[in-house]
Amino acid sequence: MPSRELYPHQWSWDSAFIAFGLRHVAPERARRELVTLFSAQWRDGRVPHILFNPDTPPEAYFPGPGFWRAGRTSGLIQPPVHARAVWATHRADPDGSAAEAFLGTLYPRLVAWHRYLTRHRDLGGRGLVSIVHPWESGMDNSPAWDAPLSRVTPEAATSFTRRDLDHGEAADRPSDEDYGRYVRLAAEYRDCGYSDARWPEVSDGFSVEDPGVNALLADAELALAEIADALALPSAAAAHRESAARIAKTLVDTLWDDAAGFFFARDVHADVLGDKHTCAGLIPLVLPDLPVAPALLATAAGPRFALGRVRGVPSYDLTAADFDPARYWRGPSWFNVGWLVHRGLVRHGEVALARRLGADLVALAGQTGFAEYTDPFTGTGHGTRSFGWTAALTLDLLSGPAQEALVA
Ligand code: SER
Repeated sequence: MPSRELYPHQWSWDSAFIAFGLRHVAPERARRELVTLFSAQWRDGRVPHILFNPDTPPEAYFPGPGFWRAGRTSGLIQPPVHARAVWATHRADPDGSAAEAFLGTLYPRLVAWHRYLTRHRDLGGRGLVSIVHPWESGMDNSPAWDAPLSRVTPEAATSFTRRDLDHGEAADRPSDEDYGRYVRLAAEYRDCGYSDARWPEVSDGFSVEDPGVNALLADAELALAEIADALALPSAAAAHRESAARIAKTLVDTLWDDAAGFFFARDVHADVLGDKHTCAGLIPLVLPDLPVAPALLATAAGPRFALGRVRGVPSYDLTAADFDPARYWRGPSWFNVGWLVHRGLVRHGEVALARRLGADLVALAGQTGFAEYTDPFTGTGHGTRSFGWTAALTLDLLSGPAQEALVA
């Protein structure tokens, strides 16, 4: 679980980030983290964003299994960071991994997961994955969702009970109005049977191509290629590399704004490219052969993200009028994004800046009690503490050479 109080179940992308850290100290636990998550994979290939712990009392988290009506899981997804985590976990302990047939077990499941994304979620028909709910981006209240979410009528705040506010400061969390919209959208998706084919007709119009999700899928296809090579499946490996190149090219062709020097999310329903500079637009830096990397690095170093001059990597444009240093994904620096950007900096040869960012993240984690996120100006911790991926990614950063080898 990401947090004993605020998130007392298993979350999809949290598990992947947690495995990146655990692999250094307890590789068998890192493997178990991932194998357990994939035990909840749906028949259509989707990996659910929450796997509920049957021993956790129902009132500990909302929306729980009773809301989703999907057995022991939710019906949404989260960014596909798993193949990269599986490959890194394998490489940390190849003998233990081989003894458990870890790669052989998870490879077909990862293939089914990516196939779900590319076959069922190409709602824009352009070769990119769409998310159907802000929770699927992992960046719930990102300003990039404000425009598409404005079409969604919020569920009345009196019709459900938020449990997150029992454990977090209201000023650090999404607003009640946003929560009402999250609940409405999730109920609509549930009520259409979690059918992506029916979604465009039944929804209030939330279908978005997110640069973070799509860049992470391209990176995950590259990791799958390495896994396929290790399993002596060379033609499958070649197909994964082609798929990665295709997604990366479409990302640049359709979500890159040359004038802004940035990647934006596309509102598929309205067919409009957004203009909010959020940290999701920095995530494509993890990709090799990114022709726009120099321009993107310049934006990252500029006034909007001030990389190297603030604490961590801000989740939103520091110069925006609605930047908020404390509220979830509307400004604070998150450790998983800092860690991904760190990888991207190494990837594109910015090793000095990467080392500075890595050291800053480790210091921030220590001084905030492994906070969920921090104020980019003061470094003050926000959200919950003893947060799983903050601790895990700190372990990974402390094993610096291993981190740099990830992109070798
Ligand atoms: N991040 C969401 C929450 O705050 C759910 O995935 O509960």
